[in-house]
Amino acid sequence: MSITTIKRRASRTLSSRPIRVSLLVLLALAPWLYLIKLLQLASLAGNRIAASHFDSLSTTQRCQQNPFRSPGYLNTSLSSNETDYEHNRWIPFASNCSTPSLLPLVRGREPLPWLQNRAIVLFGSSVDRWHLVYFCELAHGTVEIIQPSHPLSPLQLPPDFLQPGERIVPGAQPHICRVEEYNLMLVFVFHYGLEEEDHWRKVKIGRPEERHWTPPGSFEARLSHLLLPLLSNLNISISSIDLIEVSSYEWDLAYWQQASRYRNSGAERHLQDGHETFLPFYVRRLQEVAEVLINTFPRRHPQQMPILWRVPHVSGRNDPAPRFAKAMERATRFVFAEGGSLSQSFELDETGAILEGGGQSSWMGDHTHPAKYPHAVVWSDYVLWRLRKSITGEV
Ligand SMILES: *[C@@H]1O[C@H](CO)[C@@H](O)[C@H](O)[C@H]1NC(C)=O
Ligand SMILES: *[C@@H]1O[C@H](CO)[C@@H](O)[C@H](O)[C@H]1NC(C)=O
Ligand SMILES: *[C@@H]1O[C@H](CO)[C@@H](O)[C@H](O)[C@H]1NC(C)=O
Ligand SMILES: *[C@@H]1O[C@H](CO)[C@@H](O)[C@H](O)[C@H]1NC(C)=O
Repeated sequence: MSITTIKRRASRTLSSRPIRVSLLVLLALAPWLYLIKLLQLASLAGNRIAASHFDSLSTTQRCQQNPFRSPGYLNTSLSSNETDYEHNRWIPFASNCSTPSLLPLVRGREPLPWLQNRAIVLFGSSVDRWHLVYFCELAHGTVEIIQPSHPLSPLQLPPDFLQPGERIVPGAQPHICRVEEYNLMLVFVFHYGLEEEDHWRKVKIGRPEERHWTPPGSFEARLSHLLLPLLSNLNISISSIDLIEVSSYEWDLAYWQQASRYRNSGAERHLQDGHETFLPFYVRRLQEVAEVLINTFPRRHPQQMPILWRVPHVSGRNDPAPRFAKAMERATRFVFAEGGSLSQSFELDETGAILEGGGQSSWMGDHTHPAKYPHAVVWSDYVLWRLRKSITGEV
């Protein structure tokens, strides 16, 4: 119906009295209809707010949901005196909000029924391995590296598994941490990010003795050939895993840098190039592996025990590409956004992000890995808090 048709019809209808009355009624209703429209718009906005649900909560609600995400600051003590470690805390600004300090209870071997007989699984990079190793030091547990010769090793190497120049790298092998008194076990398996073409087999970085790559290459293959068989060897059934944390960032960042360097013959000033191919690829792969994880680790109560996804942190020292990192953080937040379908099964671990904006250089253990103090203390408290929340509902 064109505007002129409407006008013509209107002028025709205005001539008859009953219709003039109904027009008056309509005019009287107009503010209400306008209000209804406004309310509809408001409810649409409400949907948008649901997408960043956490930000819309009151200070108290935010603290109740996750004190580690409540705005605050990092209190640090970089003293190497072990007794000072407790000062490394995330302190929310809100007066009634605090992050629980659970590590001292574990170190003191206090009775903690929620920690008894638990299994925590980490699937990620060396940053996650550092988490496990530092946690184990702080919690006075024991770390074991599952070398291929270890009876629990899942790695059954076929003869042609390693090509000339490739070797088994200890750091890339699974690590486990046991805290006997609680029958608590943390299991770490390493992966090389989301690339799909065995990129790191072809692109050998560093001196041969520093080369890091050990097959299998892909996220999915390492999940099914390393992590799952290892869990089975450890008698940890999928349904008995209490907490899973996954990440994919550091090797993806390296992949992006490598790929763009190739395209641009090594010119540093072109390092930013390639974002238009890399970032959509990264988002697609994050979505793919998220589905794989949901199917591999079906959660009985996903809201209560989501899979944790570690948010990329922009490291403070010598990071050649902080803007790459920021872009990848945005991609991660997009994929796992609150209100999205994946947020039913995943929750973001923000402990890397809270390292930003402070005395970063001293907070990093090297150019990639956050240090034991303050980071690993905060991460350990966070993971213990998240586990306790899953088991008991307590925040
Ligand atoms: C913050 O750390 C300092 C040591 O660096 C310590 O004296 C202080 O008690 C800590 N504050 C809190 C609230 O933990
Ligand atoms: C560590 O700190 C504690 C308590 O402040 C102190 O008693 C102890 O002597 C310190 N240890 C070292 C090695 O400085
Ligand atoms: C802080 O929490 C306590 C105990 O839950 C409560 O009684 C008090 O009113 C709270 N104070 C503020 C400022 O919210
Ligand atoms: C797993 O269970 C089997 C059968 O009960 C047992 O023989 C084996 O020692 C267990 N392995 C571990 C690592 O606990």
